[in-house]
Parts: sequence; C-alpha cells; structure tokens
Amino acid sequence: MASYKNIVVLTGAGVSAESGVSTFRDNDGLWEQHRIEDVATPEAFHRDPDMVQNFYNVRRAQLKNVEPNAAHIALGALESGLDGQVTIVTQNVDNLHERGGSTSIIHMHGELGKVRCTCCGYVFLWPGDCSQSSQCPNCFNQPALRPHIVWFGEMPFEMDRIESLLGACDLFISIGTSGSVYPAAGFVSLVRAIGAAHTIEVNLEPSDGASHFAETRHGEAGTLVPLLVEELLA
Ligand code: OAD
Repeated sequence: MASYKNIVVLTGAGVSAESGVSTFRDNDGLWEQHRIEDVATPEAFHRDPDMVQNFYNVRRAQLKNVEPNAAHIALGALESGLDGQVTIVTQNVDNLHERGGSTSIIHMHGELGKVRCTCCGYVFLWPGDCSQSSQCPNCFNQPALRPHIVWFGEMPFEMDRIESLLGACDLFISIGTSGSVYPAAGFVSLVRAIGAAHTIEVNLEPSDGASHFAETRHGEAGTLVPLLVEELLA
C-alpha cells in the first residue's frame, strides 16, 4: 500500500452496527420502525415535538450502553500512528469515534449528545433527556431546545470544510454507509473529479455507490477496518 499523508474517512451507521447501534436501512433498521416524516424532519418537530424529543431521548440513552468496536479503535490508532493527517467525516450522531480514540472528527449530521437552542442558537452538551419544558441555559427561553441533529430538508454541517478536505486528500475511505443519502453519497465522485486520490469502500455489501470506488472490500467493519489500518501503518 502506498504511503498516504492525507486521509479522509467517511463513516456511516455500519461502522457502529457491531457496537449494537441500529443502522437505518438494514432489516430491523430505524427507518423500518419509524417513518422519517414522523421523527426526522423540521415539520415533524413542529407538528409533534414530544414525539421527536422522545425518539432522540431513547437513542441518547442507548449511547450509555454501547462501546466502540474494533473498527472505531483501529481508526483512532490510524490517526495517532500515521505520519500525516486523518480526518473522520461521520454521518453518525453517536460518540463512538471519540471514544475509540479519534480526535479529528466532523459530525456532518450532528450529535446526539448535544442540543441546540432555537432562540439564541447556542449548542450545549446534553447527556440526559430533553423536552419541551427544558429551559435554555443561555437565554432561559422555554420551550426552545431541539436535538442538535440534521434533519431531512436541512443542510449538513461544515460542508465547506469537508469539501476542501476532500479536494486535498490522497486517500478517501468510505466505511459502513449505504451510499443512499446525499451529499455524503456524492463524496467519492467529488474526490475522483477533483484529484487523483485513491478510493476504498469498506461495507458489508456493495453500497449504492460501490462502482465509483477504485477498490472495494466487503465484510464486517470490525474485521476489515483493523486489517486496512494495519496495511496503512505498515
Ligand atoms: P444505512 O442504514 O443507510 O446503511 C448502513 C450500511 O452499513 C449498509 O450498507 C449496510 O450494509 C452496512 N453495514 C451494516 N452492518 C455493517 C458492518 N458490521 N460492517 C460494515 N458495514 C455494515 O446508514 P447510513 O448510510 O449511515 O441521516 O445512512 C446515512 C444517513 O441516512 C444517516 O446519517 C441518517 C439516515 O437517514 C439522517 O438522519 C439525516
């Protein structure tokens, strides 16, 4: 394997599946049990804020019972062991990359462990339940707090920074994502259009965008990612 100095790793729900966090589109995935329109849109929050808060409260509470798996830990080791830069761009809202040792992480779809005030815009760490009776610790309005999550119809976070990282990388790795949600699904094409970076997909099965990758490895992330990291650090 060539020696890479600037690696961007895109991750999706599949990287956390072996930790026990549900994916979205697999059998029994979250979108089989809930309708996106009921829990993951600004309109849903406007219509039934309690239902939306509860959906994310349950998921926030689940985070306390899951641990990073071998894939998260290997990615943490890649960042500390590589003579270069490794940035994780994750669609996941869990905190398993942080707990696996990665420090350079962009949560493009937000973070379960945070809430945002719809009045003053402040973002807060929020480990417990949030409801319409929770008061904003900054502007004291209530109801005011919403999950710090990007819902369908909203713009993902830090897109400018992500695009410049994609343009500068020499290796782009995509792990555990179905490739069905844009803009993340388009990152591989962007990388290939801008430069000469190598591109690798690691996923349980070929994703919707598998044909856009120069190299694909199919199987469980907890097995394949440590092997890939070993090759990259050799
Ligand atoms: P999906 O549920 O769409 O896809 C998960 C992918 O992970 C699938 O292709 C699985 O085959 C794969 N997978 C499952 N277990 C795996 C394992 N152990 N190892 C490797 N791969 C595995 O999840 P995402 O692609 O992350 O957005 O979904 C993208 C976005 O759609 C999410 O961030 C979320 C969702 O709606 C919002 O909520 C805004």
